[in-house]
Amino acid sequence: MAAGHAWAAAPSAQALATKAGIPYPAVIAHRGASHDAPESTRPAYMAARDLGADYLELDLQRTRDGQLVAFHDDTLLRTTDVATRYPERRDRPISDFSLAELRALDAGSWFNASYPDRARPGFANARILTLDEIIDIADADPEHRTGLYIETKVPNLYPGIEADLKAKLIRRGWLTPEGEVAPGHRVVLQTFEKASLQLLAKEMPKVPKVLLLWVGEGSIEPESKVTFAQSGAKDKAAYYAAQRPASKEAFSQWVDFAKAQGAVATGPSAALTAGGEQSYMDLIQPWMNQLTHAKGLLVHAYTLDDPVDFDKARQAGVDGIFTNRADQLLRFYGRPAAKSVQAVLEADGY
Ligand code: G3P
Ligand code: CA
Repeated sequence: MAAGHAWAAAPSAQALATKAGIPYPAVIAHRGASHDAPESTRPAYMAARDLGADYLELDLQRTRDGQLVAFHDDTLLRTTDVATRYPERRDRPISDFSLAELRALDAGSWFNASYPDRARPGFANARILTLDEIIDIADADPEHRTGLYIETKVPNLYPGIEADLKAKLIRRGWLTPEGEVAPGHRVVLQTFEKASLQLLAKEMPKVPKVLLLWVGEGSIEPESKVTFAQSGAKDKAAYYAAQRPASKEAFSQWVDFAKAQGAVATGPSAALTAGGEQSYMDLIQPWMNQLTHAKGLLVHAYTLDDPVDFDKARQAGVDGIFTNRADQLLRFYGRPAAKSVQAVLEADGY
């Protein structure tokens, strides 16, 4: 598709964004500035805020004692020292731990070990954050408050988390008692799960919502049922890149479901030019974005970090991007941060 055609669709998408109160194009800091600091921790969220991202993205889970926290994985193994601190529960989900137990974990040192070129002594012992603490970070400058883009993660594990989230947002003044987004605040709710989207719509009908898209079990019906193990693909990125919706109708059905629940956007995956662990199915092909726009929804794609991929997404008609590198995306969109990410981290005390 010619670039000019994609741009021709932009004004109506911009109008959709304005109506929904969503910046266009949107910069969504995926788990914070997670390329440069440990994901979902204080330095990552402070840096994303201070760079000027539109939204801090987070994965919402709930502790055994009912506290809402931000954590991506199903277990604590990859990004904490759970294996040494609680070896008998190393494979257990967040819901098996109290907040005090999670607080004792070091969620920063893994980053320093994995990325020595980006390591900072201040990242060691970074803590898992509560939603309250991320709200405090976003609230720092009420004149320029950063938005929150909140995913209900593994919601089947957390019955009632949608209602808990609503109560918290009202208590913190982010929603009015009537359930509307409070003036001066930006919040988007996101989920991969149809059932959770229905619950979010029931609890918070007036808050912008996004249905995340994926191809596979529980998501869009795939063209092929061949598993990664059966596929012979060299890595997961190559396997995902070959995964396609079974049909245009299979894709369209998910957009229709999102619309029927009052969602303002879909959140499709993208395949990355360089591959890697966050390279998934290409669900941002121009026809997919045109179909979504034609149904009156925006497209926010995950998770892109490279200008080559930013440009492909823009040409394809994407309206906002989840990125681990908010500094790079802000520059690409012509809104460069006043300071480098390194300077921001230093100013924030890291
Ligand atoms: O929330 C959408 C985006 O974050 C991609 O999914 O797995 O990184 O939470 P994930
Ligand atoms: Ca997420």
